Amino acid sequence: MPYAHITGWGVSVPEPVLTNDDIAKMVDTNDEWIRERTGIRERRIAREDQYTSTLAIEASLKALQVANLAPTELDLIIVSSSTPEHIFPATACIVQDAIGATKAGAFDLLAACTGFIYAVNMAGQSIRSGSIKNALVIGSETLSRFVDWKDRNTCILFGDGAGAFVMQASDQPGGLLSAVMRSDGSGADLLTLLGGGARYPASEATVHEGKHYIRMEGKAVFRFATRAVGSVTREALDLAGLKVEDVDLIVPHQANYRIIETAAKYLKMPLEKFVVNVDRYGNTSTASIPIAAVEAVEKGKLKAGDKVVFVGFGAGLTWGALAAEWTGPVPTKKHVHPEQYRFFARLRSLARRALRFIEGLFSRREL
Ligand SMILES: CC(C)(COP(=O)(O)OP(=O)(O)OC[C@H]1O[C@@H](n2cnc3c(N)ncnc32)[C@H](O)[C@@H]1OP(=O)(O)O)[C@@H](O)C(=O)NCCC(=O)NCCS
Repeated sequence: MPYAHITGWGVSVPEPVLTNDDIAKMVDTNDEWIRERTGIRERRIAREDQYTSTLAIEASLKALQVANLAPTELDLIIVSSSTPEHIFPATACIVQDAIGATKAGAFDLLAACTGFIYAVNMAGQSIRSGSIKNALVIGSETLSRFVDWKDRNTCILFGDGAGAFVMQASDQPGGLLSAVMRSDGSGADLLTLLGGGARYPASEATVHEGKHYIRMEGKAVFRFATRAVGSVTREALDLAGLKVEDVDLIVPHQANYRIIETAAKYLKMPLEKFVVNVDRYGNTSTASIPIAAVEAVEKGKLKAGDKVVFVGFGAGLTWGALAAEWTGPVPTKKHVHPEQYRFFARLRSLARRALRFIEGLFSRREL
């Protein structure tokens, strides 16, 4: 049975920074309150011309570059997002077309802030089963488009960004070691974005009622999260046959510094073993784990051979954890420049659209 290794990684965060002081100009809050209760100092906000796919594509190209893998070699693309570009088509298909992943299947996955855990596991299990060799897993969000900037309970928390992993089959032991996925729909009403779906299709009334905004029962979500992180981390470690002492690094979902602190206490682990960057990006939902992981790699905190746990929680309710042995790029003689494929991808996309148009003209004549 092949192993599923993480061989590439990349991040894309928008440049515009929104500080706590900026938010204090919009709602009745202040920098001190936000820092004390959440650990957040600032977050990134997508420019008007940046979409969930824009960030996803940038992160993907960087991940492919690290893995030295051509987009044409991808078998599968999963975009995890709670803020997809549209209900359909899938954001994953937009990414597939833009990067020129000519033979990849592509779909979106929605498991809120736990989405990246679920998506890495889905791609990992497809690799383990032998049905695919190379997968691209992306967590991408433009949450700022769904934040009610008049609601101080939520607008202080969220930010935009994307992170991507390339996963590849290998006979070498390592990579993904275990995965746990959990859900509890009885808590579905605790964190929601109700408008624009089939139950509340977009209408003047839904907009008037603010159903297109994120709503949250902060305290209840906090209680759930503090319990979930520690227990599911333990479950993933047990499944992988690892002890807490074996773990080099934990990469938790970045929602609130206090949640991470509580998890560290529960697991009796020093806080230094947890990656924390919520201060600079806020909660980027499903993108937060890959963004934090890439930062850890760049700072030399996550190295080949390290035992790492990724752990997430969020709306649904959903939660989950992955234990992995970090691989790093597979040594190879070839040097792939995925960015160059973009030009050909664009040409290919235009040619296919033109062909479809011409086909349409002829089929009309036949009718
Ligand atoms: C949202 C959160 C930071 C609020 O912190 P909290 O300590 O629970 O605060 P509370 O909601 O109890 O509010 C305490 C007081 O601060 C006020 N308050 C709420 N938001 C405020 C803000 N942004 N600025 C200043 N005061 C605020 C409340 O009105 C309340 O005032 P009151 O006591 O006079 O009624 C916290 O509940 C949280 O982080 N929850 C989890 C959220 C999360 O992680 N969501 C994503 C999951 S993926």
